Parts: sequence; structure tokens; C-alpha cells
Amino acid sequence: MEMNIRLAKKADLKSIQTVIETAFSDEESEVISNLASDLSSETASRSIRSLIAEVDGQVVGYVSYSLIFLRSDASISGYILAPLAVSPEHQKQGVGSRLISSGVDMLSADGFDVLLVYGDPEYYGRFGFREEIGRSFVPPYPLAYPFGWLGMMLDETVIPETPLKFECVAALSKSDLW
Ligand SMILES: CC(C)(COP(=O)(O)OP(=O)(O)OC[C@H]1O[C@@H](n2cnc3c(N)ncnc32)[C@H](O)[C@@H]1OP(=O)(O)O)[C@@H](O)C(=O)NCCC(=O)NCCS
Repeated sequence: MEMNIRLAKKADLKSIQTVIETAFSDEESEVISNLASDLSSETASRSIRSLIAEVDGQVVGYVSYSLIFLRSDASISGYILAPLAVSPEHQKQGVGSRLISSGVDMLSADGFDVLLVYGDPEYYGRFGFREEIGRSFVPPYPLAYPFGWLGMMLDETVIPETPLKFECVAALSKSDLW
């Protein structure tokens, strides 16, 4: 399978939403589809970077990374991964893994220190996301599934001992997403 990973453009939104609608349950897909739309229109600065995976020119996977804003410690910089979706007929073929490793490479190369994610520890644990790291970064809203809150250091930066509070981009600053 020939797979291409590239930065998403505004014109990709429809295809991205199709991937989301097929990947997530009906219950979740509306919220996630709206999130993708909000992220796509909130393109000020480079604080949001979305990647898509294409196979034969068709969008089959999508991931978005957005900057986090730490309230007290300006010496640490990071991103949060959300959302991630792969169309069902292309799942279990490494598309999700490529979207994650490409993001990790991109953010590491740009010197960011930490990447956070809120999802299934069974899945994200494979890529090095850990609960211990998540614990040091306090999200802006209470979590419905605290066990899914994980993080990964991208460099040698020391994990803060006192948990640090952070804010998100507007698209993620909605309590029902957490
Ligand atoms: C989760 C998801 C993105 C994985 O994408 P994918 O392209 O199938 O992932 P990969 O092929 O890279 O999978 C890597 C491995 O993780 C496994 N895996 C997939 N989902 C998993 C889960 N929820 N828990 C544990 N393992 C999982 C796969 O079986 C695969 O295992 P293998 O390498 O031993 O075959 C995809 O299944 C999806 O879109 N699901 C619905 C939406 C969703 O839940 N998104 C994530 C939350 S934001």
C-alpha cells in the first residue's frame, strides 16, 4: 500500500469529515466532525497542524496537533494530539501509526518538549505515551476518562514536579470534548 502523509489544507475538510464520520460511532462523529471543522478554520499562526494520510489520492486518515499554552512555566512548550481517525477499510494497516510518528517527528524537529493525548492507553501506550507524563499537565476541563490522559516527552526536558495547568486553542476549549 502506497501511503502519503502531508499537511492538511482547508480544501481537505470535506474528505477529513468523511473519514471521521465512518471511523467514529454516530454518537461521537458529529462532535469530532465539528472539532475538525473548528480546527480547520482556526488557522491563525502555526499553532494548529493537521496531517492527512492518502492512499491512491484518497484521504484515509487524519490527525490534528495543536499548541498548548502553559499558564506558569514558559520554559516548556508542547502540543496536544486530537483528534485521530482512520477510515475503517484502512485500519490496522499502520495508517494511525504513521500519522502519529510523523507528528512526533515534526514536533520534535521543531524543538517542542511534550506531546499530550486523551485517548485509549492500550493504543497510545504503544507509541510511548505515559500516564506519569500526563499527570504533570493539567487540562483546562475535568476529564470524563482520567485514565486516558497521557503524555510523551519529545526531548530531555525534565518533567515538572508540580503539575502545570494549561489552556488550549479555541477549538478544543469546550468542556464536552473532555
Ligand atoms: C484508533 C485508530 C486511529 C487506529 O488506526 P489504525 O490505522 O488502525 O492504527 P494502526 O494500523 O497504526 O494500528 C496499530 C496497532 O494498534 C492496534 N489498535 C488499534 N486500535 C486499538 C485500540 N483501541 N486498542 C488497542 N490496540 C489498538 C491495531 O490492532 C494495530 O495492532 P497491530 O500493529 O498489532 O496490528 C483507528 O482504529 C480509528 O480511527 N478508530 C476510530 C476512531 C478513534 O477511536 N480514534 C482515536 C481516538 S481520538
